[in-house]
Amino acid sequence: MPVHFCPDNRTFFLTTEGMSYAMKILPHGRLVHLYWGAELMPQDLDFSLYLNYRAFSPAPDDDPAQCSSDTLPLEYPAYGTGDFRSPAIEILQPHDGSRILDLRYSGHQIIPGKPKLQGLPATFAAEEEAETLTITMTDVLGDVSVELRYTIFSKIAALARSARILNRGENIIQIRRALSCSVDFAHSRSRFHFLHLSGAWARERDIFASALRPGVQSIESRRGASSHQHNPFFALTECADSEDFGEAFGFNLVYSGNFLGLAELDSHESVRAQLGVNPFDFSWNLSPGDAFQTPEATLVYSSAGLGSLSRSYHRLYRDHLCRGERSKSPRPILVNNWEATGYDFDAEKLEALARSAAGLGIELFVLDDGWFGQRNSDRTSLGDWVVNERKLPGGLSRLATRLKGMGMDFGLWFEPEMVSPESELYQKHPDWCLHVPGRERTLSRFQLVLDFSRPEVREAVYRQMERILRTVPVSYVKWDMNRNLTEIGSADLPPQAQQEAAHRYMLGLYQFMERMIQAFPHILFEGCSGGGGRFDPGMLYYMPQIWTSDNSDAISRLRIQYGTSVVYPWSSIAAHVSAVPNHQVGRVTSFQTRGHVALTGAFGLELDIGALSDGDRAELRRVIEIYRDHRGLLCEGDFYRLRSPFRTNEAAWMIVSRDQLEALVVHVSILAQPNSPQRFLSLKGLNPAGHYRIAEGKGAAFRGDALMRVGLPLPPREGDFVSSFWHLQGASTDKDRKSGF
Ligand code: DGJ
Repeated sequence: MPVHFCPDNRTFFLTTEGMSYAMKILPHGRLVHLYWGAELMPQDLDFSLYLNYRAFSPAPDDDPAQCSSDTLPLEYPAYGTGDFRSPAIEILQPHDGSRILDLRYSGHQIIPGKPKLQGLPATFAAEEEAETLTITMTDVLGDVSVELRYTIFSKIAALARSARILNRGENIIQIRRALSCSVDFAHSRSRFHFLHLSGAWARERDIFASALRPGVQSIESRRGASSHQHNPFFALTECADSEDFGEAFGFNLVYSGNFLGLAELDSHESVRAQLGVNPFDFSWNLSPGDAFQTPEATLVYSSAGLGSLSRSYHRLYRDHLCRGERSKSPRPILVNNWEATGYDFDAEKLEALARSAAGLGIELFVLDDGWFGQRNSDRTSLGDWVVNERKLPGGLSRLATRLKGMGMDFGLWFEPEMVSPESELYQKHPDWCLHVPGRERTLSRFQLVLDFSRPEVREAVYRQMERILRTVPVSYVKWDMNRNLTEIGSADLPPQAQQEAAHRYMLGLYQFMERMIQAFPHILFEGCSGGGGRFDPGMLYYMPQIWTSDNSDAISRLRIQYGTSVVYPWSSIAAHVSAVPNHQVGRVTSFQTRGHVALTGAFGLELDIGALSDGDRAELRRVIEIYRDHRGLLCEGDFYRLRSPFRTNEAAWMIVSRDQLEALVVHVSILAQPNSPQRFLSLKGLNPAGHYRIAEGKGAAFRGDALMRVGLPLPPREGDFVSSFWHLQGASTDKDRKSGF
């Protein structure tokens, strides 16, 4: 049983492959954290608690036996009774001004499987795949309860946590902070590192790791989207960013809006880690009888570095988060017109682009921004989702039919959440955007954000999109979002509820996306926000792949994709080959290198194939063939990072099939080195006793242990940006070979 409750010492043990998590109800009802780490048999861990007096740490009646909430490892700490560290929850009782909560255990329930989270994206599991424990904590005055939910997955070292706050009293309460999880680690983790993925537009998700220091280290978004700046993920790691060594504890929020993640090292060397909706500019009025559900946080453990943490996250998200018929099927090879044409296209130009792609194995043509309204630049027409017949006579259906004739499906770009002031929609409904009456509406990319918390706004956009998706054979939608939120006010909400607007926007957006994917299950949705500005598990619940970055330069992508892979499965990382000199950085790389870097993601092209040289065209055929032959493995296999572009002059990664019979390896040498030494690339994840033939090679098979310990010989570093690719095919194992060499 993954969830074990021992009534004698009132301890909960949640155990799965390689991981345990334990909590205890103290005699006075406080719920304390006992343990999170490598698998432990259920047992008495009371000795691990420090229950003595400490100066300046208040305890009820000054009685050490009651102990201070300031020094207890609390599972869901509240503000007001002596815990001076960062709280998980803060409320205001407007009727009497109280901000105090004193939560005590009032019951629990264990059920098989995992119930849905009302209105929010979340991981899912069948009854035999997980068990869920709900612990109810109630304030000593009885009018506020918190249900802490823990789902433990039976085959992955992962836990999903969330909290539901209930108003059981007779007055409205205002929630000012409601995080999804809080974990108090014992002092043995005080020397750990805080690792996170941060960056900016066009350079998303660099890996940063710094030693914990006294005080708070945090990452957050105040932008109304999870953001390019900080991903809603952090890990506490024993050995900084080591792939293979040390414990690592991952925290990731299944949410796409404002978030806060922090680690607080206190003066007694315990570490509090928390993640949830950002309390900044947030409050929620909860009426009597109502409940507030926090988003879910996924907590993943590894005893062997970041590599195994990532593989657990990948499995969790592939098997228990991404949904829909298209998430499991092979991803189509696509060509997108954006970098080839921008807004400057018509049917003839698009068809010429498509013709040059036909016959190469490209399966999908994606028409990006610029096909609707008067959209010839980014200044106009968002919100008017009607095809521009001047550019596309005969409309989208005619284009889709022509593409079909060339053997390609049709994909289409939308930016549903936005409106241009220069649009019919805005002229008719100027109050439909987020705004604060009497204040200027700040533009970004010449556009405003529609107030998706309002049902009538969602309905109007849905109707427009539905009209197209029901009449045009669209098999893929790229869902873009090109600005962050300002003047976050909703015309629908009373003044005291305006701080609910950002979260209500997210709830409305999730409702809208759910409706879309239910209505159009055959469509593959790809998320995008100026590249990777909303690359988070909240989005992956609706859209199994995301445009990783607007930066398509192969060398920049080494870092971007490597960093993204710390949490997100390779199948979700959209990666395209684009033209050189690269649009964003001006770099020139070979077609082979661009192909090798892109082909281990959700592969596509973003260029005019007609303009390619014969050599590049031949290379394109090769890359497409590799992708077509191996995309099942790319989607399902286990991912290993081999060389970090953050620390070395190269990057390498590999994907190994679950049965260890096949593997793909990519290596990129960044800058040339004269007279370079013979270098080897040590592989990972192979069967040590297996024999692997390098598919292109004619001769010998190499043993897995040699490939992992000695490594693959690398070509000399001649020239900048040189890539290599290997396909390893299991030839046999020791058992079916004669002894000897
Ligand atoms: C930003 C996206 O990331 C690009 O790929 C492209 O779709 C543009 N928006 C179009 O406006």
